[in-house]
Amino acid sequence: MCGIVGYTGDQQAAPILLDGLARLEYRGYDSAGLAVRNGDALAEVVKATGKLYHLADKTDQGHSLPGTCGIGHTRWATHGDPSVVNAHPHVSGNCTGSGSGKVESDVVGVHNGIIENFTELKEKLLRHGYAFYSDTDTEVVVKLVDYYYKKYKIGPVDAITRTMVRVRGSYALALMFRDYPGEIFAARKDSPLIIGTSESASYLASDVPAILKYTRQVYYIDNLQVARVAPGSVKFYDLNGDEVSLPLTEITWDAAAAEKGGFEHFMLKEIHEQPQAVRDTLNSLIHDGQIDLSATGLTEETLQALRQIDIVACGSAWHVGMASQYVIEDLAQIPVRVELASEFRYRSIPLYENTLVIVISQSGETADSLAALRVAKERGAMTLAVVNVVGSTIAREADHVLYTLAGPEIAVATTKAYSAQLAAMDALATQMALVKGTVSREQYGHLLEELAAIPDKIKRILEDKERLQWFSSKIANAHDIFFIGRGLDYAISLEGSLKMKEISYIHSEAYAAGELKHGTISLIEKNTLVIGVLTQSQLFEKTISNMAECKSRGAYLMGVTTNGNFTVEDSVNFTVYIPKTDEHFVSSLAIVPLQLLGYYTSVNRGLDVDKPRNLAKSVTVE
Ligand code: G6P
Repeated sequence: MCGIVGYTGDQQAAPILLDGLARLEYRGYDSAGLAVRNGDALAEVVKATGKLYHLADKTDQGHSLPGTCGIGHTRWATHGDPSVVNAHPHVSGNCTGSGSGKVESDVVGVHNGIIENFTELKEKLLRHGYAFYSDTDTEVVVKLVDYYYKKYKIGPVDAITRTMVRVRGSYALALMFRDYPGEIFAARKDSPLIIGTSESASYLASDVPAILKYTRQVYYIDNLQVARVAPGSVKFYDLNGDEVSLPLTEITWDAAAAEKGGFEHFMLKEIHEQPQAVRDTLNSLIHDGQIDLSATGLTEETLQALRQIDIVACGSAWHVGMASQYVIEDLAQIPVRVELASEFRYRSIPLYENTLVIVISQSGETADSLAALRVAKERGAMTLAVVNVVGSTIAREADHVLYTLAGPEIAVATTKAYSAQLAAMDALATQMALVKGTVSREQYGHLLEELAAIPDKIKRILEDKERLQWFSSKIANAHDIFFIGRGLDYAISLEGSLKMKEISYIHSEAYAAGELKHGTISLIEKNTLVIGVLTQSQLFEKTISNMAECKSRGAYLMGVTTNGNFTVEDSVNFTVYIPKTDEHFVSSLAIVPLQLLGYYTSVNRGLDVDKPRNLAKSVTVE
């Protein structure tokens, strides 16, 4: 959460920083701020609460803040309420009023992450005469850098490394020192940070889309490293202050991929990009009629020897895990356990030999998923990351990586990254089944054909989106919505329910249909909307019966089912049909109408679809 940017070069910094922050707003949007300096002059700070446009208005789109070197921040509050005084940048000295104005201090900085021992450090600094104006952990870290800088009369790099040794927690930090005009100093541990360069400028950002317009040449600064960033040149140092060299990587993402491209919202654009995201992901894995996992480094022998799979993830990625559980167990007959990363990391789950821990993550930076990965590695398990963002921490730390090719996803509510993850996991399950001998060559060929057909089938569902738009206008005032299903349909219900609640703010829950009568059915009242997912032929009748039980208590029913199951209409008020596919792969199709339903309901309620309240796309804190 939180996004940071930095720029130093020959252009005016503030408009570039604001532009970068706009592309990071998905990471947090309760307040924002900039610090810009013009040559040797003192830096000037401007902060504003609320969405980024308030800061843009306050600075005349950046034009009232002259200078060619600066840093910026968009905040998702962790320590201290979302007020101007808690907004970043923070300074090492005193600060009056709102904190905007010329910076008399020696150090000014922005931070993404959480400093866990900030109370203890604050007490230490208080004893040394520092006073604090905000409730943030960031102010503490900026002041600690200042303390070492002055106490030992050392340069910025050494002051920062001393600070890094002293703090516990996670951080991506960007700091400007009064004595070093035109330079930005950055440090990183467990929070994302990339540094881009061009001939005459350098850029720093929490995520690629923020700088894609300006450069494609980036460095992925490693954990516990410091960067000294000057126009067009960057130097890196380790914790000892020794210079280290890092490879320059070229980003291949298309800059247009991070723009709305004529759609009203990123979410709708990304829903429409799902056929491409799934196709690209499958094409990267299927070569010459075979699934080829060589890029991941997983060998046939490794798959052959697998006795247990643990899937660990958060949010929608966890829902992908829930779906994959059914698919892997049914196709490849390998036992699968699915854990929330935030739970897994604090449990002592025994991990035996030949267990594969799969961490699924779009961003590759989710704090709990990263911690879970590290726990799995410490316990000796083999790890596979299914990740979208190339070079992200989870991708770098896992033993094996399978990249999904969804491209940049901007809307907070995930759609195309989720679908790309499903496709990747379905392909993995299919290959495991072949290697384990639980499907014949012929069945394998059929499964591959079915996988390859998914993108076009998603397209067909999207062509009928107006029906869902119409239906969503009828349900936009609902108070509660229940999603029910059995087996794979339950996993789909979980994601459908999340899509609905996170952007429409309508209370919704997903239940395994068989569980309804163990409590939840008492919540059903006249006109409560119950959405049944009915794609698994063996479970169809059972879920229909559960829906009928709801109907007889007054519920209004919607069903999502496969083309041909027309009897559904005898029991259900509104039906959505999806194209037929192998039932193992149905999640990729059944989720699409539910994404659209969530999207249109949010639009009908006049909400900020791409940036729902209190949420952030990349959750880099516990
Ligand atoms: C946040 C996002 C979700 C995402 C989850 C896990 O909650 O809003 O869309 O599923 O984090 O993120 P990851 O990047 O690890 O997939």
